[in-house]
Amino acid sequence: MGIDRNLALEGARVTEAAAVAAARLIGRGNEKDADQAAVDAMRTALNALDMAGTVVIGEGERDEAPMLYIGERVGTGQGQKIDIALDPLEGTTITAKGAPNALAVIAFAEAGKFLNAPDVYMDKIAIGGGAPKDCVALGESPATNLRNLAKARKCEIADLVACILDRPRHEELIAKVREAGARIQLIGDGDVSGVIATTRASTGVDIYMGQGGAPEGVLAAAALRCIGGQMQGKLIFRKDDERRRAAKLGIKDFDKIYTLEEMAAGDVLFSATGVTDGWMLDGVKRTATGCTTQTIVMRSDTGTVRIIEANHVFARKPHLAKLMG
Ligand code: FBP
Repeated sequence: MGIDRNLALEGARVTEAAAVAAARLIGRGNEKDADQAAVDAMRTALNALDMAGTVVIGEGERDEAPMLYIGERVGTGQGQKIDIALDPLEGTTITAKGAPNALAVIAFAEAGKFLNAPDVYMDKIAIGGGAPKDCVALGESPATNLRNLAKARKCEIADLVACILDRPRHEELIAKVREAGARIQLIGDGDVSGVIATTRASTGVDIYMGQGGAPEGVLAAAALRCIGGQMQGKLIFRKDDERRRAAKLGIKDFDKIYTLEEMAAGDVLFSATGVTDGWMLDGVKRTATGCTTQTIVMRSDTGTVRIIEANHVFARKPHLAKLMG
């Protein structure tokens, strides 16, 4: 049956609200408050939608997240059963520092179609569309993946740019990528944006590599299902407690490498609004009468990608005026 396509545009309102709420806290050095503002706004906007929604990728498990926790029911309860993957503020530190690429993100799928990933790390590899199937793979060395990608893109490895989170755990990966001859764009945070960057020539990023959050991996997979591209993810377990939490979510094989379709299957709708300026989207900007937002809205079934530029007039939208403060 697929999802009601209007939900994609409803999703834009939801991420707009979260982004506007977080924007008030850009550059204020307060990650927690920025995240809380985005969470509150996203939850209120979600609960206005006619659907029987369940959060499957959210702010954490019920005992650790008071809102938008995994399993929380959202929406009016009327209408289609929808599973939701969300990150009201992807890039809390980015926002606190006033740095680029913070997003408010949500994805919708039919019930049971997202990987129920626990909040652990995920090893990820992703590239944009147009390459042969299985062009890159987590089981291969960085040198082999870069060689295969260079061949597919008809360029030299030296022409390729890999996006990697700037973390001590990536020291070896970074050394291997440089040794293979590629260049690296290190990012401080925000790997949903890092993965999506591989799909857009204007970013200069050709491949995403390395370990980031597993929930962010599922959100990035949802985006790639819509926009095109390849991705694999493998959950990384460092403690028994992490395995226990994964088992609770139904994960049996702890060494499994997930394909894009295994992370986000069926008809997927995706919406992200820029909080700070980024590779793909402008951030929220105050205007004399309110603010502007830029949102990307996509659907996997049709492959439609829309960029929505919205001008919000606070006198006519008091709820947004309140969010921005
Ligand atoms: P938050 O918005 O929750 O702070 O996440 C930012 C982020 O950079 C993600 O994009 C990424 O997947 C994850 O954190 C990486 O985790 P860590 O900071 O522990 O390396």
